[in-house]
Amino acid sequence: MCGIIGYIGKSNAVTVILDGLKRLEYRGYDSAGIAFFTDNNRIAVRRCKGKINDLYPMLMQQIPQTHTAIGHTRWATHGRPSEENAHPHRSNGIVLVHNGIIENYLQLKKELEKEGYNFTSETDTEVMCHLIHKYSSSYDIPLEEAVRRAMKDIRGAYAIAVMSEKEPGKIVGVRRDSPLVVGLGDGEFFVASDIPAFLSYSRDVIFLNDDEMVVMTDSGITISTLDGTTLQKDVMSISWNSSMAEKGGYRHFMLKEIFEQPRAIADTITGRLHPETGEINLEEFHLTPDYLKDIKKIFIVACGTSWHAAMVGKYMIEELARVPVEVDIASEFRYRNPLLGSKTLFIAITQSGETADTLAAQRHAKQLGTKVMSICNVIGSTASREADAVFYTRSGPEIGVASTKAFTTQLVGLFLFAIALGRINNVVSKEQAKKLLSELLMIPDKVETVLSNDSEIEKIAKESFKKDSSLYLGRGINYPIAMEGALKLKEISYIHAEAYPAGEMKHGPIALVEEDFPVLFLAPKDRLYEKVISNIQEIRSRSGKIIAVTTEGNTNITDFSDYSIYVPEADPLVLPILLVVPLQLIAYHIGVLRGCDVDQPRNLAKSVTVE
Ligand code: AGP
Repeated sequence: MCGIIGYIGKSNAVTVILDGLKRLEYRGYDSAGIAFFTDNNRIAVRRCKGKINDLYPMLMQQIPQTHTAIGHTRWATHGRPSEENAHPHRSNGIVLVHNGIIENYLQLKKELEKEGYNFTSETDTEVMCHLIHKYSSSYDIPLEEAVRRAMKDIRGAYAIAVMSEKEPGKIVGVRRDSPLVVGLGDGEFFVASDIPAFLSYSRDVIFLNDDEMVVMTDSGITISTLDGTTLQKDVMSISWNSSMAEKGGYRHFMLKEIFEQPRAIADTITGRLHPETGEINLEEFHLTPDYLKDIKKIFIVACGTSWHAAMVGKYMIEELARVPVEVDIASEFRYRNPLLGSKTLFIAITQSGETADTLAAQRHAKQLGTKVMSICNVIGSTASREADAVFYTRSGPEIGVASTKAFTTQLVGLFLFAIALGRINNVVSKEQAKKLLSELLMIPDKVETVLSNDSEIEKIAKESFKKDSSLYLGRGINYPIAMEGALKLKEISYIHAEAYPAGEMKHGPIALVEEDFPVLFLAPKDRLYEKVISNIQEIRSRSGKIIAVTTEGNTNITDFSDYSIYVPEADPLVLPILLVVPLQLIAYHIGVLRGCDVDQPRNLAKSVTVE
């Protein structure tokens, strides 16, 4: 995610902003920038692709003596990492920094261009600058009123800080679906995406809610709703140290990222579908219907957790588009002399975009003349640059080595692609597509429901996984979820966990089962449920300990399981997104219980850049 910060006060604003941006570095970024009032009340902007330290030479002639400034660290979502895409953005005397995704920016951009505005970046953010300038220059109104009017035209997620040369010494902040906090110092005020940005200056914060605005001047702050109603907000005192603050108060990045999944999924969906028509914005995949309609086979290639996503994607695409899909582990793919061709699409799934095995497989496919699409989380990464087409997940930086929010957003991307291809192939009707998209739009809230059950899941995890080995079993599209759950337990708690198709137990692995041996079943009430129940009974008859993850309302599961975890019902093709969340939490809690370094597990790297 991007990071924003604004400061007004007695200290040198540029120094405070640069310090604050460095404390937001943990959020991950590819460019940075700062804007500040100069002594003639103009606003100067300094920004660069790269790191915050790269800004210093732009300021070295002298750190300007200024008391009002805003700053930004950019995690690219629209437009590659570059100086012109870096924030702050400006429109004449209006300067702005933004964290979020504007859903209707293309439409607004067209309208503003018709009104004579020239765009200099590829970002969605720039439309906000021009829109605010339009209102500010058209009416004799204060900056906050121009911002209010502009926000009424905006759809999407945003947290912004805005300054205007017409009103030196004022910063306006407003948020919707992206966090924004206000820091209260002694005669100085802060607004930022996250507390670490100003924690070393102030522990007194006000959390803004959606559609709330702060107006900061050197004489104080005013908080109001977007319609201008003044609000009295509670001031919270933060007791965290800076390390805890970077984790948003969570004990580990992994837990924070598990809990970020509703937002990450919502961001990955935003602007990419039209539920009222059942259409998908294919341009987000950079592939055309004419090309896709001729595809006769798809290869999906990846490593680790991303490979598990690929396996789920196979079920989605074959079910919805009726195109055969082969899934390969990247390090195996190019050594089996794969049968690729021009009517084949190669999809590489990679969170980091730097996994050597996946890059090698992707390059091999290109050498064989196959078009390559990358499903990736990092704009500007090698995989995304070398692919012919890219679908960016928007999970934000994933710091924990164990992949969680990247996985669920990969599943979202695969689901959208499967629907789009199903529509092109006339397999999925418009009505079916509308229903599938409405199912997807409910997923962020349903993930929240699962997360709200974390304390119960923690209790089950601690009571059930007391052996140094375990089995994770599932059927159909949920077998790859069993594999993902087993990998999470292995890599976080160092307990050996193995996943198997539930129907395969009787062909050997059931020999492992002894009294209290933990076996986790993915047992949603779907068309394979009865089969799974008979597999559960095979284990129970050998005194295994059964942990069943099932769907709400399926209460008779307690007749067969020692522990039951419930997730909301959903279409079978999106249910895997919900089923994986308890498995992530189980691995996390057991890892913590066993004293493991859950964010940096032994022997592992976040991105495996060697073959
Ligand atoms: C998953 O928790 C692991 N961190 C690992 O398996 C990872 O998924 C794999 O190395 C692939 O990484 P990528 O998605 O960045 O290519």
